[in-house]
Amino acid sequence: MELKNDLLLRAAKGETVERTPVWLMRQAGRILPEYRKVRASVSGFIELAQTPELAAEVTIQPVDILGVDAAIIFSDILVIPEAMGLPYEMVEKRGPHFPETIKSEADVDKLTVANVEESLSYVTKAIEITKSELNGRVPLIGFAGAPWTIFAYMVEGGGSKTFSRAKAMLYTAPEVSHQLLNKITDSTIAYLKAQISAGADLVQVFDSWAGILSHEQYKEFAIPYLRKIADAIQNVPKTIFAKDAHAAFADLSQLDYQTIGLDWTMNPHSVREIVGAHKTLQGNLDPCVLYADKETIRKHTKNMLEKFGSGRHIANLGHGVYPDINPDHVKYFIEAVKEYSLK
Ligand code: CP3
Repeated sequence: MELKNDLLLRAAKGETVERTPVWLMRQAGRILPEYRKVRASVSGFIELAQTPELAAEVTIQPVDILGVDAAIIFSDILVIPEAMGLPYEMVEKRGPHFPETIKSEADVDKLTVANVEESLSYVTKAIEITKSELNGRVPLIGFAGAPWTIFAYMVEGGGSKTFSRAKAMLYTAPEVSHQLLNKITDSTIAYLKAQISAGADLVQVFDSWAGILSHEQYKEFAIPYLRKIADAIQNVPKTIFAKDAHAAFADLSQLDYQTIGLDWTMNPHSVREIVGAHKTLQGNLDPCVLYADKETIRKHTKNMLEKFGSGRHIANLGHGVYPDINPDHVKYFIEAVKEYSLK
């Protein structure tokens, strides 16, 4: 189907755009009262994500309510461990928790490469419904976690400040670590391909815990798997968001991702110098700016757009929007991008 607004896809491919496209990481979620209402009608996050009609509904909400230039399918990166045989729970106000974790080679052997058609059809169904209901208004983004970030959750069992257990495994059992990373990578490739077949127009890989690895570890345990994913997915534009991975830009720029995401601690000028002109950059307003008043939000948004300069930019926050941000303030950000966008 012909897209009425394809700014995101054109910006990703480096084509000319009338203005900078804008969307927000975590735009589908708790910032919206409309989301909380749907969420309250089911037992929790997991049931919502697994009910395709409802997942499609909350995916489209920010398009209608906030005026973003893309939808991102409502799901989570942790559906992959579950599809490999390691189920997760979402604990209210605390985040994800894995009752079982990966500790040994035997644990890795028990995991399977995800059978996507069998265990993740709720996501592909949600994508099909979303595409049909969007009716070409904006592109739909599919996504997955990067292998290292998924590994970190599977070994650690949940969030962590240091992810020291997961990092320790890289040092103490590198071969087992590579086996696990390979299984995650193969599952992720199958999963992203299924999302694209179902209608995803662009895919983003989230490496949320990239920044806790040393540069050497990132090169050994993250980059090769990100490369394998990029090389296997060829028919839609791809984005890599490696949070806090300041040392990794030169390596990331060698991979076949058209867009590289920046968190708010990164300087667009310096990143552009390292990655060169052939990549689109995405980001990177500090999500906390959105706690401020309208004028402050507008000032910082304008400043951010100027730092990226004209061309090859997709406006976003430097990480997901926080759940207690006032949706009106999100709208100020989106309106400011549309108004100040450089040609
Ligand atoms: O709008 C969107 O961006 C699409 C939906 C989306 C969710 N999670 C929904 C969600 C996306 C893209 C994600 C990705 C994700 N999930 C990441 C990568 C991005 C990042 O934030 O770095 C990570 C690390 C996760 C794991 C995860 N899921 C955590 C740590 C948490 C708890 C923190 C929190 O915000 O509560 C989740 C839960 C989660 N995923 C919620 C939503 C809307 C909140 C749960 C709820 O509504 O009950």
